[in-house]
Amino acid sequence: MSMSKDFENIIRLQSYSLSNITGDAVSDYIRSLVPEKQGFLKEIEDFSKEKTLAIVTPEVGSLLGLICSIIKPKKIFEVGTCIGYSAFLMASYSENIEKITTVERNPLMYNRAIDNIKKYDKNGIINLAIGDALNILENTTDKYDLVFLDGAKGQYPNFLPHIERILNDGGILFADNVLFKGMVASDEFLDKRRNKTIVRRVREFLDILSKSDKFVTSVLPIGDGVAVCMKKEQKND
Ligand SMILES: C[S@@+](CC[C@H](N)C(=O)[O-])C[C@H]1O[C@@H](n2cnc3c(N)ncnc32)[C@H](O)[C@@H]1O
Repeated sequence: MSMSKDFENIIRLQSYSLSNITGDAVSDYIRSLVPEKQGFLKEIEDFSKEKTLAIVTPEVGSLLGLICSIIKPKKIFEVGTCIGYSAFLMASYSENIEKITTVERNPLMYNRAIDNIKKYDKNGIINLAIGDALNILENTTDKYDLVFLDGAKGQYPNFLPHIERILNDGGILFADNVLFKGMVASDEFLDKRRNKTIVRRVREFLDILSKSDKFVTSVLPIGDGVAVCMKKEQKND
């Protein structure tokens, strides 16, 4: 390979790993098609941008909204509330929604989410829990139609048995950041040594899901990578 081809390759790899999975032009175009949010969702989105909080990207948010519109979940469990943006987004797309349980371990985010819920959750749909999602999942006995996983990627494999237990048959697991800036797809994209463990754990998570006979799984290269998985109906032979 020529020097200039090598160089082009490095630039290409860097731009993949540093920005998003599909490359800037495609992602920017897809993002430009997502309608701007209105009202309080826009307020929370703008606040998050100003404070550089990691909330779902517009294109991932629109896929999540589409899933909510199709499956019309009554009960949703979310790992990683941040300040509540995605919880409100899912509520706004889910016409039969009764309850969203969302877990946040960072007290700063939790307090801001509480303020947002007091201000905007007029129907008392969003139940916010503070603590580590694994502890809360371990003690959860309710059943859910949708689980949105959006925190602590390194813990995803530990969450999985509990998610399987709390999901109704036909329920959806929607997991964000499963390609982690491309690093999960290839070690070429690894930026820091300390991300190695996270990458190994996410690969393990995707490996279990894709080989599982309990889930139908699709991994999509949008945003930071998304896995959409449906829990199959469990037949008692
Ligand atoms: C990417 S943000 C969530 C963004 C939010 N879902 C949204 O789109 O508006 C991830 C959040 O998960 C929280 N988090 C990470 N690991 C967690 C865990 N094990 N238990 C509870 N919260 C966790 C972090 O504190 C952070 O606020």
